[in-house]
Amino acid sequence: MERITIFDTTLRDGEQAPGFSMREAEKVRLARKLDALGVDVMEAGFPIASEDDFNSVRAVAREVRRPIVAALARSMDADIDRAAQALEGAARPRIHTFIATSDLHLAHKLRMSRAECLDQAAGAIRRARRYVNDVEFSAEDATRSDPDFLVAVVEAVIDAGATTVNLPDTVGYATPDEIVRFFQTIRARVRGSDRVVFSAHCHNDLGLAVANSLAALEGGCRQLECTVNGIGERAGNASLEEIVMTLRVRPDKLPFTTGIVTKELFSSSQLLGQITGENVQSNKAIVGRNAFAHEAGIHQDGILKDRRTYEIMRPEDVGVPETTFVLGKHSGRHALMNRCSAIRIEPTRLELDELYKRVIALADRKKIVRDHDLLELWGQMKRAASRAQVPAAFAFRDEPHPADEAGYGHGV
Ligand code: KIV
Ligand code: ZN
Repeated sequence: MERITIFDTTLRDGEQAPGFSMREAEKVRLARKLDALGVDVMEAGFPIASEDDFNSVRAVAREVRRPIVAALARSMDADIDRAAQALEGAARPRIHTFIATSDLHLAHKLRMSRAECLDQAAGAIRRARRYVNDVEFSAEDATRSDPDFLVAVVEAVIDAGATTVNLPDTVGYATPDEIVRFFQTIRARVRGSDRVVFSAHCHNDLGLAVANSLAALEGGCRQLECTVNGIGERAGNASLEEIVMTLRVRPDKLPFTTGIVTKELFSSSQLLGQITGENVQSNKAIVGRNAFAHEAGIHQDGILKDRRTYEIMRPEDVGVPETTFVLGKHSGRHALMNRCSAIRIEPTRLELDELYKRVIALADRKKIVRDHDLLELWGQMKRAASRAQVPAAFAFRDEPHPADEAGYGHGV
């Protein structure tokens, strides 16, 4: 098993997404959490972008001592000087400088020739190396760049002293098979490729960012750039938690380890949501509210018998407190009894039947029946029974629910 580098860019690419910008104190708070999470590199910001970003990078660089702290800079003198200044207090500083290499970006955005681009890239690396030994180069829009030109740029930045070469799929256009071939080809063709770490930075425009990042490992990358909850420009970056847990769950396919403390994944995701006010969708892999929740009777029954039937990882391994059983119209009696025990209700067999009917009726109206609803239904039953002065054991009219008919609700 080979250990790869996790480069977290939640504080930079992540916060570039609309609605995700963070102030200095918030960045420092999240940086502490990323440290506890075990990221190897954290990109703290883009110091030339604003005074606030400069201050944030400086504050993070002073606060966090174990991981490498990176600052982003275009391949321009002023950017590199500003990044270096922001990193002055860092224990392990990295300057990350980039320039676009695709003809599309060169012609229409930078209005620059290939020769100018190559010179600027190499010059930026030389300037950054005057300040720090750890310099990363990114060829923006690398996957849509002409391979011959990309090889020339990568050779030039290696000669100039780059230590990591990142080849981003900036607009999330590539497919996993292309990514494997892309990295294999560039690494094979570049003179001096064994002197640097190759890195992937995949965007999620087609929902392929994690698949592409994992494919990049097969292509020879040993650093992956990603963000908590997959936040980032447009549809976001590769999700850190999804990459890490795929490696953890499928070492047979992907024999790589990371330094991530997986028990910190859920709380990191929650903290980011708290700070930005943007929570992940409920079905988000690993950290979404439903990632370890089961409603269907067949699934709840399976989980109660052996959790491996419907869970490929343990919730506690990613810091989720426990598997949750949600009561809904697909739930069976077995699951209801389980919830009752959890909230210390002890219905008799007949009471359970009545309660079950009420739960299903309520689920039809409000989709999810939570513990407080269950308590309310139980209270109503008890009150009705005491008004009628009969025991709470209601007459059981046997009208089985489809979940029961399938055989999943019985056995209580
Ligand atoms: O997506 C991208 O190309 C980037 C670079 C600046 C690394 O974020
Ligand atoms: Zn990006």
